[in-house]
Amino acid sequence: MKATAIGPSNIAFIKYWGKKDENLRLPENGSISMNLSDLTTTTTVEFLQNLREDSVIIDGKAEKKKIERVSKQLDRVRKIAKFPYKAKVVSQNNFPSGTGLSSSASGLAALTLAASKSAGLNLSEKELSILARQGSGSACRSVPDGFVEWLEGNTSETSYAYSLYPENYWDILDIVVVVSHDKKDISSTGGQKIVATSSFYKVRLSNINKKIELCKKLLSEKNFPEFGKLIEAEALELHAIMLTSSPSLIYWLPGTIKIMKLVKKWRSEGLAVYFTVNTGQDVHLIIEGKNKEILLEKLQKVKEIKKVIVNTPALGARLINKHLF
Ligand code: PMV
Repeated sequence: MKATAIGPSNIAFIKYWGKKDENLRLPENGSISMNLSDLTTTTTVEFLQNLREDSVIIDGKAEKKKIERVSKQLDRVRKIAKFPYKAKVVSQNNFPSGTGLSSSASGLAALTLAASKSAGLNLSEKELSILARQGSGSACRSVPDGFVEWLEGNTSETSYAYSLYPENYWDILDIVVVVSHDKKDISSTGGQKIVATSSFYKVRLSNINKKIELCKKLLSEKNFPEFGKLIEAEALELHAIMLTSSPSLIYWLPGTIKIMKLVKKWRSEGLAVYFTVNTGQDVHLIIEGKNKEILLEKLQKVKEIKKVIVNTPALGARLINKHLF
């Protein structure tokens, strides 16, 4: 059976950085995120009895490293379905991959849902999240809807994401500011392997549960200024760890810093806007929906910006009827 799923990327407000089990992708800490409406991957999967190898095309290309990652995830599905068939997979991102916009989260969430459906499995949201997590940690957060918490867990069965609030809970936006189309030189997976080389990492872990609780409280109160302050400080803490890892990880470009400084300036002038950044150069601006036009107007005047992508909070991974082949 052919199945197609669409998976959203997500932006973490409290980040996942460091694993306590590399193989199972069990995180050192829990995290909190929001699914993004306009950064998505669509994937069609069909298991076929006469295929000798998995055939995988992502954005029109068959790249060895990506095929291996997809095949590994298909193996997990084959194991549960208890059959040996290879699959044909075609996947399309609506945004560039490898630049820090979390295409592995949207991609692995869409793949997990489409593959499990194509294999005839009817997995629960929790089971899908657990399975997606093994393909890419942050992908487990792209399975449930809206605003999401990933529970750290100590075993594979207890480390999964669930929805804290639906996508229409809070009218906030993630306006992604693309400052370069360059691919990052170190992947998130690579960066996470050296996290313990930063002497600040222990300090982060000792405070992280308090931070998660505070983030959940501010979300429940819809306290935008305090929420914004918290997530911006969290992003800077993450990058302090990256900068002080060995070898150091410098994901920012001059355009990244320019935007961060402008955000602080605009805030001092009265606009409630906050930033967060992942493993890449692009900046996510978090703002209340009512301030969208004011911010977009300001962004139009910044010459370093290559592209702006406006995201509302979104549904998690879901099946669609329009197949890619
Ligand atoms: O799931 P990965 O391996 O792409 O790692 C994600 C890492 C961050 O984006 C920096 C943080 C996060 O929680 O999304």
